[in-house]
Amino acid sequence: MSLSVDNIRRRWTDTGGQVPLFAAIDGSNCPSLPQAQRASHSLLLDHGLFRVSLPWPPKNITPDFRLEVLSGPAGCNATPGQISVYRRPRPSANLTRLTPGPHGALLMADGRAPSLRDQAIDAILVHQQAVSAPSESDLKRILDFETTILASQYSDYRGGITTQFDSPGPGSSGPHRDSVLRGKALFAARCSSCHLSGAPRAHATPKPHLPALPSFRATCASGKVLTTQDPGLALITGKCADPGAIVIPPFFGLAARPPYFSNGSAPTLEALIEAYQQIGIHFSPAEKQDLLHFLLTL
Ligand code: HEC
Repeated sequence: MSLSVDNIRRRWTDTGGQVPLFAAIDGSNCPSLPQAQRASHSLLLDHGLFRVSLPWPPKNITPDFRLEVLSGPAGCNATPGQISVYRRPRPSANLTRLTPGPHGALLMADGRAPSLRDQAIDAILVHQQAVSAPSESDLKRILDFETTILASQYSDYRGGITTQFDSPGPGSSGPHRDSVLRGKALFAARCSSCHLSGAPRAHATPKPHLPALPSFRATCASGKVLTTQDPGLALITGKCADPGAIVIPPFFGLAARPPYFSNGSAPTLEALIEAYQQIGIHFSPAEKQDLLHFLLTL
């Protein structure tokens, strides 16, 4: 339901890159690079990142900040009017739970798709490079399929079956179960201000900086300056409040889909927990273990 870096590398080795996964349009650092070389696909092969190219400024919007490209190591941010950012694909299961709300959709890292229907049309025209939009009957078939895919972790090798009442299951009573429950309480106390339904849908978070990614500077009319490797929601809204804000991702199946964060900068959940220290969310070593055990059961 998502794509791990291990899988991507296996596909490259098995096929020499001759599959749509490595298409020049989004599966390479930039379409203008020599596509047969591994280095041209390094962001995908090393970090699981796909290129997303968006118009700047957004159509029909006058942004309230100025955006400059500070560095573009992938060589794809030299064309005025177009911004390339690099992102992990989001899990494609449990999509019916991501219903659009008053503050925009929960679909896509920058919330740009107002519905699954719009998302499908956009993906077919842009990523798949189709010459025309899909027919209504094709769209219906896509949506019928997408809305039936459900995923949830069934068991944890130390925690037992996770779907039983009062899970993690009865077989797991003892130290591991207690640790998961302590981790759940820690998450509720320290992490849920953002990760809870009803919380604002997009936030800037302290992600590790990846030297291979481009870097942007947003300067607001107020003089506020922000640097980011992905302006996120701001690329859609043009609002000074949004540079760096990424729509909160769904949490199921975390154990199966490293690396984490939209820029793939946390190779493990341990690294992700460390990253949160930067915004002052500190844990003792024992608490980190508990939190990790909890995240691994989702
Ligand atoms: C300030 C708001 C905020 C707080 C507090 C916060 N998060 Fe996040 N979290 C986010 C946002 C926004 C993202 C998406 C960022 C991205 O993908 O670049 C995210 C992403 C994640 C992901 C990655 C999911 C994925 O699919 O890659 C995990 C796991 C996570 N957070 C766990 C935590 C934990 C554990 C805590 C507490 C220690 C926490 N978060 C606290 C806003 C927050």
